[in-house]
Amino acid sequence: MKKGIDEFLSLEDDQATFNFIKSPHLTAELEQTISKVGIIGCGAIAEIITNFAAKGKLGVELQYFHDQNWTKAKHMAAKVNGVAVKNFKDMLNYVDLVVEAASPQAVVDLIPTVLKAGKHVMIMSLGALMDINFKDYLENLAQKHDSHIYLPSGALVGLDGIRSASIGKIKEVYMITRKSPSSFGIKTNQETVLFEGKASDAVVKFPTNINVAAALTIVCGMEAKVKIIADPSVKFNCHDIHVSGDFGDIKTSTRNQACDINTKTSLLAAYSAIKLLQSFKQNLKIGT
Ligand SMILES: NC(=O)c1ccc[n+]([C@@H]2O[C@H](COP(=O)([O-])OP(=O)(O)OC[C@H]3O[C@@H](n4cnc5c(N)ncnc54)[C@H](O)[C@@H]3O)[C@@H](O)[C@H]2O)c1
Repeated sequence: MKKGIDEFLSLEDDQATFNFIKSPHLTAELEQTISKVGIIGCGAIAEIITNFAAKGKLGVELQYFHDQNWTKAKHMAAKVNGVAVKNFKDMLNYVDLVVEAASPQAVVDLIPTVLKAGKHVMIMSLGALMDINFKDYLENLAQKHDSHIYLPSGALVGLDGIRSASIGKIKEVYMITRKSPSSFGIKTNQETVLFEGKASDAVVKFPTNINVAAALTIVCGMEAKVKIIADPSVKFNCHDIHVSGDFGDIKTSTRNQACDINTKTSLLAAYSAIKLLQSFKQNLKIGT
């Protein structure tokens, strides 16, 4: 007879054990082995993650730091009594996972080596994955070397719902990004449309401003249509997203606080990386 919930809860731990055969490749098991972490790119995102680590709240040990700017790597490492490395390869023997928070070019140049070393990676510069061949190459490497590639939701709000929606047929994906002119390194007193077109073209012109469009394109398996606007009246990084498909419609509107040291980057992007790092050690996972 089926046990009632109260009866089940009253069992001692050992009585409540079922005879599951555990696969060594279960995701949860892999993730719980992630404890030592290194970071490539010691700018705005790294600063927020590292400040969190310094308070002992990251759930993993962030210990290794690499940046093409040696001073930045040393400065960041000092916050957690960590190690700055001049060559990123020098961290690979000591970490389980490498966070990339540098640039799309760094993903292309460095991440294949990290995967070949059998290490997990968390990629922030999603623009690099707009090249389908390169994305497939990284996925194949990860499979071959038994590692995982994590793409945090970053500044994209609604990723979970959109990911679920992608089980069905997606018909249309578009987004409007609106940021201050200084985020694009320009000066203007009026609203100016900088780009309108396909995400894959936008990524060429705005490689570090287009992560949300890249995330949308990857998750939907369909090119997002993108409009990028420099707007002197906005103080936030704003993203309006519309996805429609057989599930219905999703519309999200986000006003993201920009990071102090890099106004192109939203605070939420760094927070999403922190949340994902914390989740490795948590047994309850929420969200798709
Ligand atoms: N996924 C998202 O939603 C999202 C949101 C914001 C930013 N990002 C991306 O994350 C990345 C980091 O953002 P950030 O705001 O911290 O940038 P940042 O410019 O503040 O810092 C980047 C750091 O990486 C270093 N760097 C660049 N290329 C490197 C290389 N090849 N090797 C070693 N170091 C290198 C730079 O010297 C700099 O210190 C950017 O590519 C950005 O576009 C993603």
